[in-house]
Amino acid sequence: MIKITFLPDKKNIKVNEGATILEALESVGININTPCGGKGICGKCKILINKGITTATPIEEELLSGEEIKKGFRLACQTELFKDTIIEIPSEIRLDFKKVFSSNLKGDINRIKNNLSLGTNLKKVFLDLGKPSLDDQRPDWERIKDGLSSKKIENISNLKVAVEILKKIPDVIRKSDFKITVTLQNNEIIDIEKGDTTKNSYGIAFDIGTTTVAGYLVNLKTGEELSAVAKTNPQVVHGDDVISRIGFTQKQKENLEILQKEIVNTLNEIIKETTQRAKINRSNIYETVIVGNTCMHHLFLGLNPSNIAPSPYIPVIKKSLSLKARDIPELVLKPSVNVYMLPNISAFVGADIVAGILSTSMWREDKIILFVDLGTNGEIVLGSRERLWTCSTAAGPAFEGARISAGMRAAEGAIYKVKIDNKFITYKAIKDGKVRGICGSGLIDLIAELVKLGLISKSGKLVDREECNPELSEEIRERIIKGQKGSKFLLVKGKETENRKPIYITQRDIREVQLAKAAIYAGIKILLKEVNISPEDIQKILLAGAFGNFINKESAIRMGLIPQLPLKKVESVGNAAGRGAEIVLLSEKTRKICERISKDIKYVELSSRPDFQEEFIKAMFF
Ligand code: FES
Repeated sequence: MIKITFLPDKKNIKVNEGATILEALESVGININTPCGGKGICGKCKILINKGITTATPIEEELLSGEEIKKGFRLACQTELFKDTIIEIPSEIRLDFKKVFSSNLKGDINRIKNNLSLGTNLKKVFLDLGKPSLDDQRPDWERIKDGLSSKKIENISNLKVAVEILKKIPDVIRKSDFKITVTLQNNEIIDIEKGDTTKNSYGIAFDIGTTTVAGYLVNLKTGEELSAVAKTNPQVVHGDDVISRIGFTQKQKENLEILQKEIVNTLNEIIKETTQRAKINRSNIYETVIVGNTCMHHLFLGLNPSNIAPSPYIPVIKKSLSLKARDIPELVLKPSVNVYMLPNISAFVGADIVAGILSTSMWREDKIILFVDLGTNGEIVLGSRERLWTCSTAAGPAFEGARISAGMRAAEGAIYKVKIDNKFITYKAIKDGKVRGICGSGLIDLIAELVKLGLISKSGKLVDREECNPELSEEIRERIIKGQKGSKFLLVKGKETENRKPIYITQRDIREVQLAKAAIYAGIKILLKEVNISPEDIQKILLAGAFGNFINKESAIRMGLIPQLPLKKVESVGNAAGRGAEIVLLSEKTRKICERISKDIKYVELSSRPDFQEEFIKAMFF
């Protein structure tokens, strides 16, 4: 066995000769970004070997620059270990993304109150049961039923109760002097607690994304959002997109269980953090709502997603599900807590889009609205209350920062805004500290600015210095640098970045973004044809996604991501899916609306459209 040391953590581990660095990292619990799932395609798992340097493999030679190889950079998924080694893990590849944020439910609460009716089917009732005596030998269960009857609770004779609740009854009622709170849902007693806890009634909504998992803790009585936490989906170590995750489940039988465990653990961590922040007891959570894309939905439930990926793209189930926490192994909520999973639409348009349609009110608008959710899959919805159409287009992970040389997610240190004029470049980074990379909205801005200045041609070529508009200042022109693999543009100098490495956008990055934007725009064009309208007929465009709030609408239009519409008609709606999940948590009535949306929407399968390729090629141009 050989000894490996990881810096800056100073973690030591002994591994067998021949293990990869990635395997060693996994065994010490250090998670790094591996967008291609360790297949040696993305070049993102870059670590620095301080001692015990190895000869670069052909894949490393292809994906790393000569200078990087000389300095000791290698790919964690490709380098095998044969001697004692000291390895440094750069901060930008670590998966420590954790965010506390708000979904801004506040503005929606009035809307729910006015239009959708705030109200769940959960009822908490305080009962003073009175003690048993020789004259009153009613069993505990009868005593509770009589108590509920005196509070005018209906249908008592058919009241259901699980054995686990029956087991609790004798102890709870006696330890609380026969003063208890009973929680009822759908004619079932789902909990019994000591004393009066009627004020404590909470629910938690989850949006399980391929990259990020967000949880929102909500007061079910007032509708207030108490706390919200987002975490990286730990499954990203098995690949960035749903296809890699599905591929992982097919490698070994146990892998499906591994993916399910990873996601349930993340939900458990979010439950712990949100309840601690809000200073509430997690045993007072009685309801949870879950949305996500169809693959994440299947993985959370432990359903085999294999048939989602190949044509004809068949999920196991698309209808909504009302489950109990006990149906999900290791979920830390009380076993009787209701777990409501919103319905999906198709293999590639999931419950997150249903939730987005709900929260943006698209389903009842007279206006024709175009909704675009930007992620690894771009989901698009078009229509009005009359009828909605949807499709999903494989945009690739460029907007999530993967396959982009300095790309990263919309997390601390990510550039999310860029402006370039004749002389100056200004940018803004999340939390405004040292810069670590560029996220999707920053990329959209940067490319739109370079197109505006003529530095990127219509076909997407980054022009050479000599080809630049002569009116451009020297400061900007000298940022175009000839590299080994084509030209690149210097966005941030090394002295301004956290790891002191300059940030460039390369010709390859531009191609990746071009592919992503063309996929989205071609999807929009196909839906427009299907609905039989032209871009001018669209009355509003809604942009959603993890970095949705940061998107500069002007840049999105200029780079050809969305149709040209007056700016006031384009709106960023941020995480519409998470907000939709919260609304469903608070308003029982909306579940039926979601079912209807999933049933009535027309799904358009792009792979069966011969005109998609043609639209895609046209949309590649800037
Ligand atoms: Fe190592 Fe992609 S190249 S994870």
